[in-house]
Amino acid sequence: MQDRLKELEGEAISKVESASSLKELNEVRVSFLGKKGPITEVLKGMGKLSAEERPKMGALANEVRDVISMRIESKQQELEEAAVNEKLASETIDITLPGRPVRTGSHHPLTKIVEELEDLFIGMGYTVAEGPEVEKDYYNFEALNLPKGHPARDMQDSFYITEEFLLRTHTSPVQARTMEKNNGQGPVKIICPGKVYRRDNDDATHSHQFMQIEGLVVDENIRMSDLKGTLEVFAKKMFGDDREIRLRPSFFPFTEPSVEMDISCKICGGAGCSVCKKTGWIEILGAGMVHPNVLEMAGYDSKKYTGFAFGMGAERIAMLKYGIDDIRHFYTDDIRFLTQFSVPEE
Ligand code: DAH
Repeated sequence: MQDRLKELEGEAISKVESASSLKELNEVRVSFLGKKGPITEVLKGMGKLSAEERPKMGALANEVRDVISMRIESKQQELEEAAVNEKLASETIDITLPGRPVRTGSHHPLTKIVEELEDLFIGMGYTVAEGPEVEKDYYNFEALNLPKGHPARDMQDSFYITEEFLLRTHTSPVQARTMEKNNGQGPVKIICPGKVYRRDNDDATHSHQFMQIEGLVVDENIRMSDLKGTLEVFAKKMFGDDREIRLRPSFFPFTEPSVEMDISCKICGGAGCSVCKKTGWIEILGAGMVHPNVLEMAGYDSKKYTGFAFGMGAERIAMLKYGIDDIRHFYTDDIRFLTQFSVPEE
């Protein structure tokens, strides 16, 4: 019996050692140590032994069991470790592999200009106003001191939809709408960015649809010097502290007096070059003191209230700021153009 037990021990150990998987090892465990296993079988013959031999055999059987269990346990650990290592090896990530580039979108240059201007003017106490792109003839022209048949209407060739409605030719109608909403009472301090439309043939400097930014300030005691100071702050913040501005007399039906503002040319520093057409100055916007008729038509008492207004083309500002030479770039969705305005991720 003793020999048989030793033989079983040897057999079990060699099976344990040759087990190549946890499953196989478990089979070895069940076959040797299970209730129906050979050790149990051997122990069944204990009855035939003498009282003296019996405890010895019992102890030996337990010892053989313990040895086999211990071998199984250490083999199990070994196999488990090997399994983990194998998994790790198979799941290794090659961190030297370059990642796939993630393409992010970016704000359109015009959106950037508009947002920059909004920030600038909000910082000076303005609010942002909006108006419809399909506009009434009344707000687009009449309320701005351009009655029907006025020759200055020809300055802005229009897309009429009906007799009464057109695509707005400028953002100035928002002036009239905002003042009218106030019932002629209290101050107004707005800027209004938005799309406008004109019957122009598209070329490097003209687009049938473009973007304007309008400004309007109405209150008691608003003076031309307020306009000049505001425009100077705008010009320096937008184009750099070293820029000079100048106001030239001009004409707009909705302002009196009217001016056009130029900024000194950055490229030649005022000496004259092809960008500024040898003048040293670049035209930026139109402005003026709100015409009393415009105030009155919107319900404001022009004896009590005065105001200033200005209007500029966002494309023109962007073209000057970023050195863009063709307005059509803004509208042709060329990714090579647009990606130049994306801010690199930090
Ligand atoms: N609305 C004018 C245009 O489109 C621009 C303009 C000029 C707006 C003078 C103003 C202004 O508010 O005061 O040509």
